Amino acid sequence: MTDARTYIQGPTRRPSGSPYLRPMETMVRLRNVRKEYGETAALAGVTLDIRPGEAVAVMGPSGSGKSTLLNMVAGLDRPTSGEVVVGGEEITAMGEAALARYRRRRIGMVFQFFNLLDDLPVLENVTLAAQLLGTPRRQALTRAMELLEELGIADRRNAYPVTLSGGERQRVGVARALMNRPALLLADEPTGALDTRSGDQVIDLLLDLNQIGQTLLIVTHDQRLAARCADRVVEVEDGRIATEAAR
Ligand SMILES: Nc1ncnc2c1ncn2[C@@H]1O[C@H](COP(=O)(O)OP(=O)(O)OP(=O)(O)O)[C@@H](O)[C@H]1O
Ligand SMILES: [Mg+2]
Repeated sequence: MTDARTYIQGPTRRPSGSPYLRPMETMVRLRNVRKEYGETAALAGVTLDIRPGEAVAVMGPSGSGKSTLLNMVAGLDRPTSGEVVVGGEEITAMGEAALARYRRRRIGMVFQFFNLLDDLPVLENVTLAAQLLGTPRRQALTRAMELLEELGIADRRNAYPVTLSGGERQRVGVARALMNRPALLLADEPTGALDTRSGDQVIDLLLDLNQIGQTLLIVTHDQRLAARCADRVVEVEDGRIATEAAR
């Protein structure tokens, strides 16, 4: 995707940064984040920093708190205590409206089971994210088509998700996540429902994105994904960070 990087991210998100952007040392900053569900502490005090452009894989046993961690960063749920700062904005201090805006503008999310809307064709699934921001239709369509072309699924633009292979659906999921040029791409088991070949395509895609400067936070059980994409693997155990390994 050499020539298309501006399509995916826009020139202002190149790793070197633009002189017009405020320099930012930390893309994601978690301080002592705790999340309790009743008696259960899903997160028992997590502190973590992710630099802009870094690719971090979160691994660990089932029930250890990985998805909860991701949801805290996504602003989908609020910690019981602790601080979450993303792109210099303290999302734990935001009201509901600001948080909704943050989710739409700053975050792209990719899910294990794609979460596409089955009664909308591919193109509409992808443009929806921009429509929610009030992006003019023509502009949204142009961007969506660029992304679909870049991800090799433009010919499926009028297809309905149920007619696509798992790998194609996940590429639609990635296109949708990138629609609003998020500062941060979050993925929860993005290859978890895919066969090896489709999984590899998604891994290649994430790798390409990271190489053009996209910050990634990926929850995964997939050793290949972690080995190929991650600058750093964070192991979560019982709601805590057990080990961190740089690669
Ligand atoms: N909405 C919720 N209500 C109650 N308990 C929850 C909720 N979400 C998560 N939990 C509990 O918090 C703990 C961590 O869950 P989480 O989903 O973060 O684990 P995980 O590491 O993502 O697991 P998996 O690998 O199976 O996806 C578990 O004990 C889970 O049952
Ligand atoms: Mg999970």
